[in-house]
Amino acid sequence: MPNVLVVGAQWGDEGKGRVVDHLAARAAYAVRFGGGANAGHTLVVNGQKTVLHLIPAGALNPNCRGLIGNGCVADPAALRVEIDQLRAAGVPYGPDRLGISGRVHVVTAFHRAYDRAEGAAIGTTGRGIGPCYTDKAARRGVRLIDVLDGLHRPVLEAQRAVVAALHPEIALPSVEAVAADLEGHVHALAPYVVDVPAELEAAMRADAQVLFEGAQGAGLDVDHGTYPFVTSSHTTAGGVTNGVGVYVELHRRIGVAKAYCTRVGHGPFPTEVEGETGDFLRKQGHEYGSTTGRPRRCGWLDLPALREAVRLSGLTELVITKLDVLSGLPELQMATGHDKGGPIYRAYPGFGEVSHIREHGELPQAAQAFLADVAAGARTPISLVTVGAERGALMTVGAAR
Ligand code: IMP
Repeated sequence: MPNVLVVGAQWGDEGKGRVVDHLAARAAYAVRFGGGANAGHTLVVNGQKTVLHLIPAGALNPNCRGLIGNGCVADPAALRVEIDQLRAAGVPYGPDRLGISGRVHVVTAFHRAYDRAEGAAIGTTGRGIGPCYTDKAARRGVRLIDVLDGLHRPVLEAQRAVVAALHPEIALPSVEAVAADLEGHVHALAPYVVDVPAELEAAMRADAQVLFEGAQGAGLDVDHGTYPFVTSSHTTAGGVTNGVGVYVELHRRIGVAKAYCTRVGHGPFPTEVEGETGDFLRKQGHEYGSTTGRPRRCGWLDLPALREAVRLSGLTELVITKLDVLSGLPELQMATGHDKGGPIYRAYPGFGEVSHIREHGELPQAAQAFLADVAAGARTPISLVTVGAERGALMTVGAAR
């Protein structure tokens, strides 16, 4: 079975969870390889709204086991809340449905405090993600396995000392309190801790279908994004093998992009549109962060940036989401290049309601022309277009999969 990668091709929030949900019906595994609870995916489970942050979105499919690889970071208390919320929504969620690598680094109260103090300059999600990856690289990190082996206390002392030295004004909790809290949560998660590389290797040898779920988007990759306005992990195909601990051949590499573009937090966004059109996109697209509730910055699709995402992950196909959000605009635009003066735009006539359409050929001519230009400009075929939040509101393009 082909291994499938789903990654964001913009700055996150492209609707990857939606695409994963669509593909997970056929997958045996859904695997996260990077990031932490900075990601957010809203799902409706048994009529109840649930926001997943670290649990792989595909793993809500009963036949699909979730794995969280070593490239991720986890706040153990927050992960338990996610698990409990699923149980409360009637999903019998337990160690048979989710496995976590013992090498996942733990987000501590010191990381959250540091992120709250310094993250505003970047506009982080405040979840302690960057400081946790910082301590990992500085060899001052605590992994789940370290807590289970009782090795965490001296390391927590070192973490606390760094934050206390940089921010004497912050009232930090004691190492004792943080350690006791961590121990409680990590020991409760112990039944979920598995050898992710071994399990994945066996699954791939047995020809199981494995879905790798990217978090955030190409523009936020720590190496290849709009540094320093990036997250602290690898959000592109390159992050997979490192983030799960076994070499992975990715056969289908799917990039998800909105028919327009959004960004939360600071940093360059050349096609950002403020004023009436920006407000229109935010309102029609419900563009508010699912992790932080922050209003997202909105703008036009940026074809050169999309091409970059294609190159970074070797994308074999594109999924364009939220085409319906553009309905009702008198005219829409797409950046086809950039020069010193900023983006160079191509304009398209506006089109009416498309949310009821399920056949690509029935889309208004302007919408079809827009999509054809995206595929040609990105030199990558579009396989799926979504036109609404509900499960069936999408259409396949080209050969159905
Ligand atoms: P951090 O990942 O919390 O450190 O935030 C770094 C940057 O990545 C900020 O601009 C965040 O808004 C952005 N970011 C992190 N996670 C997401 C996400 O899931 N969607 C969109 N932006 C994100």
